[in-house]
Order: sequence, then structure tokens, then C-alpha cells
Amino acid sequence: METSEGAGPGVLLATAAAAVAAAALGRSAEELLAEDAPVAEAMGERGGGGGSAQQRRRTAGPASASGTGRKQPRAGGEPCSAAATAESGGPGWAPSRGAGDGADPPDGAPTAADFRCHRLQDSLLSSASGYSNYRGILNWCVVMLVLSNARLFLENLIKYGILVDPIQVISLFLKDPYSWPALCLVLVANVFALAALQIEKRLAVGSLSERSGTVLHTLNLLTILCFPALVVLAVTSITPVGAVFALAVHTVLFLKLFSFRDVNRWCRERKPPRARVASGSQRANGEVAPTGVAYPANLTCRALYYFLFAPTLCYELNFPRSPRIRKRFLLRRLFEMLFFLQLLVGLIQQWMVPTIQNSMKPFRDMDYSRIIERLLKLAVPNHLIWLIFFYWFFHSSLNVIAEVMQFGDREFYRDWWNSESVTYFWQNWNIPVHKWCLRHFYKPMIKRGVGKWTAQTAVFLASAFFHEYLVSVPLKMFRLWAFMGMMAQIPLAWFVGRFLRGNYGNAAVWISLIIGQPIAVLMYVHDYYILNYEGSQ
Ligand SMILES: CC(C)(COP(=O)(O)OP(=O)(O)OC[C@H]1O[C@@H](n2cnc3c(N)ncnc32)[C@H](O)[C@@H]1OP(=O)(O)O)[C@@H](O)C(=O)NCCC(=O)NCCS
Repeated sequence: METSEGAGPGVLLATAAAAVAAAALGRSAEELLAEDAPVAEAMGERGGGGGSAQQRRRTAGPASASGTGRKQPRAGGEPCSAAATAESGGPGWAPSRGAGDGADPPDGAPTAADFRCHRLQDSLLSSASGYSNYRGILNWCVVMLVLSNARLFLENLIKYGILVDPIQVISLFLKDPYSWPALCLVLVANVFALAALQIEKRLAVGSLSERSGTVLHTLNLLTILCFPALVVLAVTSITPVGAVFALAVHTVLFLKLFSFRDVNRWCRERKPPRARVASGSQRANGEVAPTGVAYPANLTCRALYYFLFAPTLCYELNFPRSPRIRKRFLLRRLFEMLFFLQLLVGLIQQWMVPTIQNSMKPFRDMDYSRIIERLLKLAVPNHLIWLIFFYWFFHSSLNVIAEVMQFGDREFYRDWWNSESVTYFWQNWNIPVHKWCLRHFYKPMIKRGVGKWTAQTAVFLASAFFHEYLVSVPLKMFRLWAFMGMMAQIPLAWFVGRFLRGNYGNAAVWISLIIGQPIAVLMYVHDYYILNYEGSQ
């Protein structure tokens, strides 16, 4: 301290800087200050730009190391002012003590190295700098996004006025108030569920052979898909939206009963026939069986309906249950569910519909540049609506159902937004479907010796079929755009996996989502308008 005081403010600062550098190097400030220029040079190398990015961050102090990106006092930074003082001939500068003069400095006297304000270092935006905190840039992106969309929002309001009409939504489900075909179809779905339960009950007691059971289950499952499709195609009073709802319910029922049948069959295959009959919670020797239902005690109406309403497609005898209903959590999700539903309807009415209507003419004229312009214009609201739909369905709605039913497994989605490959996206965006595909389709095929690639293609074929089923039948128009969109995932997955990595792969997944969907939407809507409204255009 004495030395510092004697040498003036420049040396005081130099000593402070040396203390910081010493802390980084694990040595005392005096030791460092006493060193000769070449040694100080070496210190500069170790504490400064010559070291790794991590070393540099450590030298720069804890705030920088924590990645806040703020400018911190540096070992080499403070002497900068001392150097400036020296250049102006101010106090504390000892001109006879240059670097490399060979003479030992008197105790506490500063060396040239103490006045350095430069060091070896990369610019922040160079990848070699190791800097990775772009939080401010992300905020900037969000601000830009909000501002540019605010402009679009205003433009839309000025051009079309307010188009949002919640009451109009009812007409999407009902054409004729005296005819409710979609609701009737949903009610009829109960018959198929009860039929599956009866088949299983008979199989469990052995009054039906496995072969007959398989035939009956297959017939039941085929009817679940064919019957509503035939009704939708035959009945004129059903609306496309009502039809999508009814067919979606039947598709979910198909997947659930497929799983129900598989799991019960696995239970029969595992259990020896005699033990199967003597089931229940009490074993013959009086020992109490582990808690939870055992086969075939699971074959009850109550258990089946719990599964049918639970937010999963994969059957289990004993689902994990949450201990209680969290009222706050439930209210929050319920509020989100209602709010986002309104927002979805509003955005579709105010933003999607006019954009689609304006796209019809370029499509009719086959004006390619205008078609691309319309497609890109539609991509924004379409993508926003898809994202809101994701949150509304997979987070808010499924959590509401799960909370009410105390269904414990809440993994309805994973971090698909970080997908660096198309495969990762399909593994993570819709977990209930992915789980079902793996458990009841993909893995059984792999077990039978089918190749991985063939099995994946088969899963995507099945998925493509259901996508097409849910679009073409309600629109009463078979165009295969959804089917092709789903099948295109296979070559796309190969291309992205083969040629793109990291952020490039992630960008490719986003582009395929942002551009791919509006192409399919425009194709269907265009064909639907041409078929149904061309005269009125
Ligand atoms: C096709 C699909 C099921 C492939 O899934 P995937 O996770 O890429 O498949 P993988 O080959 O990585 O293997 C998955 C599982 O099979 C197992 N497996 C793979 N090959 C195997 C083999 N030869 N032998 C034994 N097991 C094997 C893996 O170990 C893995 O098991 P785990 O889940 O317990 O870890 C998936 O892409 C998918 O779900 N696609 C359709 C999605 C869809 O249509 N969704 C609709 C949303 S609207």
C-alpha cells in the first residue's frame, strides 16, 4: 500500500489491476508488479487474449463470466488511464523505466507493462471470441416482430374493418339447427368402445378364441373408421368443421381401442391360463397383491372410460395418478384454454380468411409470382395460428383434462422447437401420437424383423393416411395434398439429416413448418372454393 501511495494514482490503478490479474493467476499483486517486462508480457498472454475464451471471461470478473455481456474492469483495462497520464507527462510516470531496459526496478516502481491498455483479443462477434450471450439480439427480434406485426394488424383493420364474430363459429358446426349429425356420430362412438370391452371380457374368460377375438376386433376397428366417413359423405347437413370434429373423435377412439386390445393381449400372453381366472386383489394364500388393478380386473366400463377420456392414446392397466387436483393450476389452464380459443377464432376470421380469399385470383390465373407472394403472406398468420394451436391444445387443454382426471403423465410435448432434424421434430412435437406409433406400430414391426427404414416409412404412411382422412372426407374432396405432405417428411428428413447440422438444421425444420403448411392449406382451400363457390366469385 505504501508503494502505491508513493507512486501516485497511476500506480494505484496499476496495482489494483495487478491484484485482479493476480487473483486470476493465483499470485500476489506485489509479485506481479515486481516482475520484468518479459514476464509481464507472459502474464498478458495468460490473462489476456492469448488464452481461451473461458480464461478471458474468468480474468474479466464474475459478471462477465456469468455471461451478462456487460463491460467489466479488466486487468489490462485500468492501466490505460495510467498510460494516458504518462503520455501527458503527469505524475506517476517514470520515463527512465522502459520495458526491456534490463535494470531492476526499485521496489514498487511501475514497469512499462503496468501501463498497457491493449492485449491480444478477438472482436466480440468473431466466433473465436467464444462470446455467446445474444439475449439482447433476441429481445430486438421480438421487438421487431411485434412492431412489424402491429403494422400488419393496423393495415388489416383499415382494409377489412372488424371481421371477428364469435357467434359465426356456431354456424361452422351447425348447418341446420334441427340436425346434429356430428354430435350423433360422437354418441354412436360409445357403441364401438363397449363392443371392444365385451370382446375383451369374453377373451379373458376364454369363451372366445384368440383368432375370433382378432377378427371381431379388426371388424370393430374398421367400422370405427368407415362408418363415420360414410355418414359424413352421405349426410348433407354436416358441416366440414363438424365432420372434422366427429372424425377426429373416431380416429382417437380407433387408436385407443387398438392400444386397449394390444395391452390386454400382452397380459393374456404373459399370464399362465390358470392364474388368469383367479385374479383379484386377494391371492389364494391370503397375501394381498400389490396395489393397482391386475388383468382381467381392468375390464370394467369405468376403467375403460377413464382411459377413453384420459389425455393419452396408450392403454395401461394402472396409469400414474397425481395426488390431488390443483385448483390454481386448473384455473390458469382453463383461462388459457378459453382465451387462446377465442384468439384462434379471431385470428382465423380476421387474418387468415381474407388472405386466403385474396389468394384465389392469382391461383385461378396461375400467376406464379403473385401465388408465391400470397403464399408468403399467408405463411405468417398460418404459422402464428399453428403455434397458438400447439399451446392451446398440448399445454392448456390436455393439462386441463389431465388435472381434472388426476392423470399423472403430463409429457404431451418435448422441446421440438430446438429440432435440428426432421426426425427429432416428429419424435418430440406430439408425444401421445409418437408414443402410440412406437409402442403399437414401429417396435412390433422391428421385433418381427422389418428393417428400420421400412418400419419408419410404414409409420409415416399410416400417419399420412390419417391426415388425409381428417381433411379429405370432411371436405368431400380427395386431393392427397395432406398425404403427400406427410410422405414428403421422409425425403426431407433424409436431406436435413445428411446435409444440414446445428442451427442450419433447426432453420430447415422451421422453414418446412412455416412454408409447408400454408402450401397444403392453400391447395385445399383453393380446390374447395373452386368446387363450391366459383360461381359466386
Ligand atoms: C417413425 C417414428 C415412430 C420413429 O421414431 P424414432 O424415435 O425416430 O425411432 P428410432 O429408430 O429412433 O427408435 C425408437 C425406439 O425403437 C427402438 N429400436 C429401434 N431399432 C430397434 C431395433 N432394431 N431393435 C430393437 N429396438 C429398436 C429404439 O431403441 C427406441 O426405443 P426407445 O423409444 O425405448 O428409446 C417417429 O418418427 C414417428 O413417430 N413418426 C410419426 C409421427 C407422426 O406422424 N406424428 C403425427 C403428429 S400429428
